[in-house]
Amino acid sequence: MAETNPSTPPKHFTGRSLGVLPRVLAAQVLALVLIVGAGWAIAVFMVPPAHPPLWAAVVAQGALAAAFSRTFGLTGKWLVAQFVLPAMAWSALTLEISAWVFLLAFVALFLVFSNTPREKVPLYLTNAATWAALSELLNQESKPGQFVDLGSGLGGTLAYLARKHPDWTFTGVETAPVPYIISKLRLMTRPNAHIRFRSFWKVDLAGFDVVYAFLSPAPMPRLLAKADSEMRTDALFISNSFWAEGHPYDGQAEVRDSRKTCLFFKRL
Ligand SMILES: C[S@@+](CC[C@H](N)C(=O)[O-])C[C@H]1O[C@@H](n2cnc3c(N)ncnc32)[C@H](O)[C@@H]1O
Repeated sequence: MAETNPSTPPKHFTGRSLGVLPRVLAAQVLALVLIVGAGWAIAVFMVPPAHPPLWAAVVAQGALAAAFSRTFGLTGKWLVAQFVLPAMAWSALTLEISAWVFLLAFVALFLVFSNTPREKVPLYLTNAATWAALSELLNQESKPGQFVDLGSGLGGTLAYLARKHPDWTFTGVETAPVPYIISKLRLMTRPNAHIRFRSFWKVDLAGFDVVYAFLSPAPMPRLLAKADSEMRTDALFISNSFWAEGHPYDGQAEVRDSRKTCLFFKRL
């Protein structure tokens, strides 16, 4: 883990760039316009007129959408998703899948992401390399204490740290039903880890020595103000990847993982 002390957070951690969803949609729309145009030209101008099979158009749509996505700065899993998306939409339309399947899928997604539209914080998880970096930060604290993960997802961070630091107490707060239930089951065998079904906006941060958050740019200004007003002097606030402009912080640590995770921290 490499530590530096910059004065302002890098711009890409403050959420100013165009969001992923507009780029995903723009790439698919551009690809569709090209495919429809090419299909029309082939049908009208070729002699004799040709009608390419629909599956070829679907594959071309996916390939073009992935290529445009790359140009728009998307990488990795997004390119794969962009390629398979048209094929999945086509299958859903042609395979006559029962409406129940869609209803069940909707309910399952709702129970995982029900809080996302309001909070603008989707579910993605702290990786193992970052768990180890957090554990290192806890080792540097002068004595064991209380740790809270604000929006604790599937409880992986808590489970790992609770195993590594039996003398600390770990609390997670989560408002998405399925992640909460999974965490509850996962932490059943960890006497020093607890999960609460509660919004982090309703948690008094004064009771914690280390506060950890891996959220999104959206809640950061309000959350940092809350941390400033509630956290005890000497307590440590750590945010994975996101900070807010205009709020000072004490340092950042870059985790040596493939996504170059950055932990911002501030000693209150
Ligand atoms: C990016 S995930 C991080 C999960 C976990 N902390 C980790 O690092 O693996 C953010 C989590 O915050 C939860 N969340 C969003 N708004 C919340 C709120 N107001 N109170 C509690 N949890 C919230 C989401 O449901 C999601 O599980």
